Formats: sequence, C-alpha cells, structure tokens
Amino acid sequence: MKTEKHDAIVLSSEDEKDHFKLFTALLKNTPIPDDEILANVGAYLTSKNLSRILFFYEIYQKILPTHGMVMEFGVRWGQTLSLVAALRSIFEPFNRHRRIVGFDTFAGFVGTSDKDGARGQVADGSFSVSADYEAHLTEILASQEALNPMSHLRRFELVKGDAVETVPAYLSRHPETLVSLAIFDFDIYRPTRAALEAIKPHVFKGTVLVFDELADDIFPGETIALREVFDIANLRIQRFPMTSRISYVVLE
Ligand SMILES: C[S@@+](CC[C@H](N)C(=O)[O-])C[C@H]1O[C@@H](n2cnc3c(N)ncnc32)[C@H](O)[C@@H]1O
Repeated sequence: MKTEKHDAIVLSSEDEKDHFKLFTALLKNTPIPDDEILANVGAYLTSKNLSRILFFYEIYQKILPTHGMVMEFGVRWGQTLSLVAALRSIFEPFNRHRRIVGFDTFAGFVGTSDKDGARGQVADGSFSVSADYEAHLTEILASQEALNPMSHLRRFELVKGDAVETVPAYLSRHPETLVSLAIFDFDIYRPTRAALEAIKPHVFKGTVLVFDELADDIFPGETIALREVFDIANLRIQRFPMTSRISYVVLE
C-alpha cells in the first residue's frame, strides 16, 4: 500500500505496479539528450497523470473571469502549483493579481486525529518530502516564471509550517486577499478545517474550491471538515469524467 520511502498510498494491482516501475526506469534512464528533455517530457506522462492536468485545465477556465489569487493547501512536491503557474502563463500572463500561494509543512502531515480514520498511513510525518525540498520547489517555480512575461514580479509564495497557524497568519498579513481558486489537498481534517474557516471571509460568488479527497474513505477528514464549515446541501459538488477522485465547487 505504501511507496518505499514516502507513504503515498498506491491502490494499483501488482501488475500495474510493475508497469509503473518500468515506466519510471525508462524515464530515469532516458536516452533523450538534456536539451530536449523538457520538450519531450510528455512521452512519459501516464493517462492518470494526464487526467490530472486535464482536470486543472478545465478548472483554470472557470477562474479566468474571476478576480483574485490561487491558494493550494498541501503542496508536497509541487506538481499542481507548477502546473497552475504554467496555466497562468498560457491564459493570463499579465494578470499580476493572480498570485499563487502554497501552504505545506514540507515535513509531512501535522495534526492527524481520530477524524482521519484508522488507516496506517494517516500519521504525523506521512507524505514528507526530502530535506530542504521547498528550496528546490522555489527554483522550479521561479524557472516557470522566468520563462514568461513579467518575470521581474514574483507571483508565487511558499508558506512553510502548520497550516492551522500559517493560513490565518497569512490572511491577517494580507487582508486584501480574494480567493479565486482554493485547492484542498492536505488529506487530513485539522488543517483542512482551519484553512476552510480562514478563507471563508475571502471567498465570493464564483470562487472555485477543489477537493482532492471528498467522499474518500481513506481520508475521511477532508469531507468532515467541509461539512462542518460549509452547508453542503447548498453546494453543488461536481466532477469531470476524466478524474475519479478530484471534485470541485463553484460558490453560488
Ligand atoms: C497529498 S500531499 C499534497 C499533494 C499535492 N497537492 C500534489 O498536487 O501533488 C498532502 C500534503 O499536505 C501537507 N500537510 C499535511 N498536514 C499539514 C499541516 N498541518 N500543515 C501544512 N501542511 C500539511 C503534507 O506535508 C503533504 O505535503
């Protein structure tokens, strides 16, 4: 159920796992020369990984007419933040208010509780990253911005620490915040609830909320947090056909 080092949950069959290993080995040993790797990275996208990209393409279309920033709650290796930064570069390279801010401990889960179920991988420290990973991710996101217009203005920020404290602190430092898109991917109850409560005064009709684990039995805490902070009977919880787990709400 877990990857060898980082506790990620793998629901694949043994056969699928073997194919993923082979695919990973093909990528690590690629004969593609350095100056062509980035342009050909699509050769190594699996359908599952592509489906996530397609999901965020659709979500980005929904936020284009709205004002405000993007927040991601649970960044880990930063693939979603980097993808959103690339989408911003394509669709609204001059929108300086579309700041992208990611919150994470960069040390794995903090604040697991009995609301997170009894599965073994739901423990403090699960889903950690390598030491100083936020410095590497900062370089990735800076490179994304460097390749695009207005690169002299930094429009991303990584906020390190327990979100129960860092999200309210960020918002008190930035009372001007309007949340156009909030992506919830802490997986667990406490920081999800804290982030939902903190952003509530900063959302509006048209704000898009994305949830990675709603209705998920492995991580029940995300659904409990949403039910406690918003009246879900008045939320249209929707999905796209290409991804089975991720859902979204456009506030009405
Ligand atoms: C599933 S990962 C996020 C994956 C990421 N969104 C992506 O697109 O690949 C969950 C993340 O939530 C973070 N996290 C869990 N509890 C936290 C807390 N109390 N404060 C801040 N981050 C937390 C973990 O460190 C982990 O990186």
